[in-house]
Amino acid sequence: MEERLKKKKLSELFHSNESEFIAVYGRRRVGKTYLISEYFQEKGIYFEVTGQLSAKVSDQLENFSQSLANTFFQGIELQKPKTWKQAFNQLKNEISKASSSKKIILFFDEVPWLASRKSGFISALEYFWNTCASRYKNIKLIVCGSASSWMIQKIVNSKGGLHNRITASIRLMPFNLVETKAFCNYRGLNLNDRQLLDIYMIMGGIPHYLRQLKKGLSAIQNINEICFTKDGFLVNEFDRLYDSLFDDSKDYKAIVTALSKKRKGLVRKELLAVIGAKPGGKLHRILKNLEEAGFIDSYQAYKKKHKE
Ligand SMILES: Nc1ncnc2c1ncn2[C@@H]1O[C@H](COP(=O)(O)OP(=O)(O)OP(=O)(O)O)[C@@H](O)[C@H]1O
Ligand SMILES: [Mg+2]
Repeated sequence: MEERLKKKKLSELFHSNESEFIAVYGRRRVGKTYLISEYFQEKGIYFEVTGQLSAKVSDQLENFSQSLANTFFQGIELQKPKTWKQAFNQLKNEISKASSSKKIILFFDEVPWLASRKSGFISALEYFWNTCASRYKNIKLIVCGSASSWMIQKIVNSKGGLHNRITASIRLMPFNLVETKAFCNYRGLNLNDRQLLDIYMIMGGIPHYLRQLKKGLSAIQNINEICFTKDGFLVNEFDRLYDSLFDDSKDYKAIVTALSKKRKGLVRKELLAVIGAKPGGKLHRILKNLEEAGFIDSYQAYKKKHKE
């Protein structure tokens, strides 16, 4: 989605005379957090809490409590909730006291980490939406997360989870070539079209990576520095990225590594051998999640009836 369209959609949702429950997802590092906080931060009462990787429920609740204090109590420490149900009740209380003429933005970032198994986050959030947020007209509830297996199952797929409550969902895509060019120009990088294309082929329109480009270096020098020097920014990114996205990241990495070595791609039978799995569930799930996460594409071979 082009930058302008994203803003337009957010603007419509912001100005609507109803509460909205918005899901934003997309590849890691694609600019989700930036887009949402930049657009909403100054537009009303702004509450933001971010899930923490591998943290205990009590730590996540502490972060929530801190955010609540910052937004509604000038940072004065509050009694910490013990469960998500209690946490959302506190939020409900504050919302009921706020003026209905102001928009209230509630931004839950990295939701998959907030909603760890048995944490009770999802059901508390759903209950909060049903009994509180949806009954007001001025609340914009935003859940955001990377396109991980979790996000896809609970938010994007139509079965179960929060899907039935979501009023709008936005999948954020990387910059296209035109946007990448604009971004590089904006950052004062002096690249000709050929260099721009080299950069785009390697970084694929991901702003977080494009930000690493240095002025005064050619495309090749930049790529060398970022990808191939010892402390290069992208050297360990593959591991970091996959570990943060997928619980069983080992199989995901093996599949992607195998695919990257064959220009024409691989058929399912070959991929099964890579992870030593039997036909059926597991490979299907991995491929589907990789596709949703924006890392691979599947296509049907010419003149063949079935996807291989
Ligand atoms: N439209 C943009 N213009 C300029 N800079 C951007 C833009 N979008 C993102 N960035 C920059 O790219 C970096 C990554 O963006 P951001 O953290 O929002 O991505 P994300 O999708 O939330 O990533 P993660 O999945 O890791 O949470 C940030 O440092 C941000 O400043
Ligand atoms: Mg983010």
